Amino acid sequence: MHEEVSSLRSEFISRALATQNHDELEALRIEFLGRNGRFTALLKSLKDIEPDKRRQMGELLNQTKKILEETLATQEKETTQKEEKKFDDTIPGIQPPIGHLHLVTQAIDEISRVFMDIGFVRRRYPEIETDFYAFEGLNMPSTHAARDEWETFFVEPNFLLTPHTSNGQVREMERGALPIRMINISKTYRRQSDISHVPMFHQFEGLVVDQNIHITHLKGTLDYFAKNFFGESRKTRLRPYNFRFTEPSFEIDITCGVCNGTGKLPSGNSCKLCKAGWLELGGAGMVHPNVLKAGKIDPTKYSGFAFGWGVERTYMMKSGIQIPDIRMLYSTDLRFLRQF
Ligand code: PHE
Repeated sequence: MHEEVSSLRSEFISRALATQNHDELEALRIEFLGRNGRFTALLKSLKDIEPDKRRQMGELLNQTKKILEETLATQEKETTQKEEKKFDDTIPGIQPPIGHLHLVTQAIDEISRVFMDIGFVRRRYPEIETDFYAFEGLNMPSTHAARDEWETFFVEPNFLLTPHTSNGQVREMERGALPIRMINISKTYRRQSDISHVPMFHQFEGLVVDQNIHITHLKGTLDYFAKNFFGESRKTRLRPYNFRFTEPSFEIDITCGVCNGTGKLPSGNSCKLCKAGWLELGGAGMVHPNVLKAGKIDPTKYSGFAFGWGVERTYMMKSGIQIPDIRMLYSTDLRFLRQF
């Protein structure tokens, strides 16, 4: 009988472990431990055993019963877990979506790289700024009409949202580390909103201050940028303009990439993208002596140039990406943003 018990036990255990669900396990339980079960039959036959062997046999059967019941209980747990998970490891996993940098971040990276290659250092200055750095220190006293051009948001009477990155000029000079070769890229804010303007946009501002800095250095830097950012064949020109913080001041134009600066298309029609071969990029000029003074730099010893352009606009011009409404750039519509 000993052998019968142990072979029943091992059969039960191996079959229990092979069950896949509750029904199979329950069928097994009934087959062995049910009222007419095979193990139950052994228990029932105990009474027919000779009295002196009965006790020993009884103990063995009790121990075995315990083992069978424990096996049932653990297998029960396992199948429950399996059924809950219903994990099919042949199904391909869910790929986490991989995004990419926002178009404007890509633009900032590219612009920074061009200037960093020629020794400019990337800087950022406050977006909430005092009147002094945004205007007063840039040779625009509080009553000056030129301020109107910057359509400024005021936070408190003396605090405003930077309407241009030129606020970084005097701040950079105040650090007292000459010579200066900085590229300040930051958010800028103006009270404007239409298909070609957003209230928050970005500018990049170059500032160079050293001894003997001339317009030729400005022109050379701009040409370098035009070639390296837009393409080998692109040229710039300076057009006289007026800013309070530069003297002389210019607007910078670049040759049009569509008509190659001719203003004419191969068909003979005039180019619709530009004005007679030129596209407007942004402002620049030689740093005004009053601005150097505001930055505690002696204008009799040092001179410099500065330029400040819009990141979005510059990037659109390069990539040829036409965005019907520039405000879409700052929407959260992934269908739009994923394109770039
Ligand atoms: N700050 C000027 C603007 O926002 C651009 C500029 C920067 C002009 C530096 C001259 C020198 O339009």
